[in-house]
Amino acid sequence: MIRIFDNADITSRNSFHVCQRAKRLIEFDSPEELIEIFDHHTKGEWMALGGGNNILFTRDADMTLIAPCNLTTEITSEDEQCVRVRVGAGVEWDDFVEWCVEHELWGAENLSLIPGKIGAAPVQNIGAYGREAKDIIERVNIFRTDERTFDSLSAIECDFGYRESIFKHALKGRVIIVSVDFVLQKQAAPDLHYGDVAKEVERRGGANLRNIRDAICSIRRTKLPDTAVTGNAGSFFKNPIVERECAEQLLAEYPDMPHYPAADSKRVKLAAGWLIDRAGLKGYTEGHVGVHPRQALVLINTGGANGGEVLALARKVQRTVHERFGIEIDTEVNIL
Ligand code: EPU
Repeated sequence: MIRIFDNADITSRNSFHVCQRAKRLIEFDSPEELIEIFDHHTKGEWMALGGGNNILFTRDADMTLIAPCNLTTEITSEDEQCVRVRVGAGVEWDDFVEWCVEHELWGAENLSLIPGKIGAAPVQNIGAYGREAKDIIERVNIFRTDERTFDSLSAIECDFGYRESIFKHALKGRVIIVSVDFVLQKQAAPDLHYGDVAKEVERRGGANLRNIRDAICSIRRTKLPDTAVTGNAGSFFKNPIVERECAEQLLAEYPDMPHYPAADSKRVKLAAGWLIDRAGLKGYTEGHVGVHPRQALVLINTGGANGGEVLALARKVQRTVHERFGIEIDTEVNIL
């Protein structure tokens, strides 16, 4: 079914809870309905909207927002080692992780409790605790809006990188993700190397799927604000990837600075949260917005903020980090 809302209030459809409206919002249950939606109900600019967890609206959306609501989870094949599953774009990401854990399938557990919907996961290649969505994505099924055709891209064709994919570049504004095909393992493959994960899992009695999921949920709950209570969009900034020389200079001055290998061996990934924290901004507030007191990567709406206020704080954070460390930090969140 297609549901059309004109002049829609989207306050509850963006995790920052900023009060904005959209010229038109269209929900659809079945991917085939996209043909009718684009033939008859979408004029001019449009954008796909998942859970609204990675977007900051700084103004009303003078466009059509298209929200996939297809909620199917279907096993498409199974052999001795793995299970392949097709999941609709409208399914909550964390419901899918729970489904995997209930079915004793490995691969998604480290990505527990990430807010958002399945359709958004490939766009920024969501990641946490040493794993990324790309590790379990086999194909992404899309609707090409110009051609009005359905297509499917392999993981290679999606060109995944750290918080990156083809959907942010060549295919931006040209496709809608309708479902994602995942491949999950039957055999245990715990990945506990990141931070406190191993310790938390051990405390719960060892590395089974349920303990890993519970450990990750518990770590996230202590560090990250609950979007249902406090408006935020998770990490507002990406961790910067810098030349090795630049990292070495900083390490000479700050030997405790966290740093990680980057995909490109000549470069090093730094922790934006640490840089913001060390720049003195953790817990900083200004009007209705602030830097989260337990995780400096996250900007929060402390109540009644508009998008402009969040953006002004983001720019201040970027400026301060640049003045202090000479490093540019980019936003992870899409700004409209
Ligand atoms: N740190 C600080 N102060 C802070 C925050 C972090 O000193 O306020 C230090 C930490 O002590 C640690 C390092 O910075 O040494 C890295 O911090 P953390 O382990 O919390 O992870 P992160 O790099 O800040 C990334 C993801 C998160 C994900 C975590 C866990 C990005 C932009 N963020 O954060 O993803 O949950 O790793 O894997 O890559 C998200 O994308 O919305 C998100 C929350």
